[in-house]
Amino acid sequence: MNDVLPDEVGRWQRVEQTFARTMTLYGYREVRTPQVEPTPLFVRAIGDTTDVVEKEMYSFEHHGDALTLRPEGTAGAARAYIEHSVSAREPVTRWWYAGPMFRAERPQRGRYRQFHQVGAEIFGDEGPGCDAEMIDMLVGLLGDLRVPGLEVFVNSLGGPETRARYRAALVGHFTPRAASLSADSQRRLRTNPLRILDSKDERDQALVKDAPAIHEFLDAGDRDHFARLRAYLDTLGTPYAVDARLVRGLDYYTRTLFEIKGAHEKLGAGNTLLGGGRYDSMVADLGGPRVPAIGFAAGLERLLIASELDTPAALVDAFVAPLGEAAIGPGLVLARDLRREGLRCEVGTRGGSLKSQLRRANALGARVVLILGESELADGVVQVKDLEGHTQERLARDHAVRIVADRLVAASRGLGKERP
Ligand code: HAM
Repeated sequence: MNDVLPDEVGRWQRVEQTFARTMTLYGYREVRTPQVEPTPLFVRAIGDTTDVVEKEMYSFEHHGDALTLRPEGTAGAARAYIEHSVSAREPVTRWWYAGPMFRAERPQRGRYRQFHQVGAEIFGDEGPGCDAEMIDMLVGLLGDLRVPGLEVFVNSLGGPETRARYRAALVGHFTPRAASLSADSQRRLRTNPLRILDSKDERDQALVKDAPAIHEFLDAGDRDHFARLRAYLDTLGTPYAVDARLVRGLDYYTRTLFEIKGAHEKLGAGNTLLGGGRYDSMVADLGGPRVPAIGFAAGLERLLIASELDTPAALVDAFVAPLGEAAIGPGLVLARDLRREGLRCEVGTRGGSLKSQLRRANALGARVVLILGESELADGVVQVKDLEGHTQERLARDHAVRIVADRLVAASRGLGKERP
């Protein structure tokens, strides 16, 4: 679990704002659900033989209630969707969310115990049009975040019957070879054979290579859904590859499944930036109406490792330097006027020499320093020192704010920077 110090928060906000803007452009609305939910919700939605439920949840008892810090956002979103009868009010629901998630995993680069996801869910659309739109939107978002080396993988898992038949085939394939599987996969063979496909263990991977592929088991409806998904992605010009062995760590998926990876050099083993897919049975399984759904979530920390976006280094636009006690009050008023013009501003309320205040202004990245000394106060003027142009001029106090604001805005336009 990490602290995010102010030096890094600027990049976090940039990614969060880019995400929120994309979501709004695509018609999603933000939902905020609790960070704690009843444990049985996650067990039912995610599956009791998944790593998340078996090993990674922070669960506790409180006054007889079994509670868990949410390990992901989909189960809580589905619970809220059912609890508030949202399907009765709108045929299609598009929700996005952002916030902390908790999994007791072994920490490493890009993998933490409290991490942050940005994600979205669509309820009430069977796809595959919205599936393709979601994948294409994510490729665009990652482009906006300047993430290099993207790879998009898609697969189809079919419906519950397909899964059952595929599961039986995998058991048939792995059972005679069980002795060569890792201990973990020998256990998975009994509890959740699909998870063997996802194993990173070399012994398992050797056997996975020859395992039957899910596509041989898809029924006509599944196949048609997957073919249309690919056709829409082709029409959109979205780059992707079909990975027939793609399975994911949560049990609720049906049909469409996808993952986007970033450059391995930066992210290492945790190079999956985001993942998602359909979960057409979850809402009904949790006691709600029969409503199909699809969603994704991205790890914010991973997006930040992968993104080449910078934040503007400057923390303020202007610095007001009062020289002497009598100038502090007028300095505060001047700074408040500058802020009302939209300029970021700090006042040297600690006092100190002009030299030390200029040093502080430089460290903050200020473009101008407004100096107020005894003689300026007496004459109703301020000294405006331009730290970039290295000029200094006396301006009437009443006009200084407007003139400085206009200049800084014009200069930031000239540099193609966003207005502060
Ligand atoms: P997930 O694949 O478990 O899916 O997590 C999504 C993303 O969260 C991962 O690709 C990764 O970037 C990030 N993530 C997961 N665990 C950690 C961790 N320990 N540290 C840092 N980042 C992590 C879900 O959570 C599903 N709810 C996605 C979804 C939404 N499917 C349908 N709707």
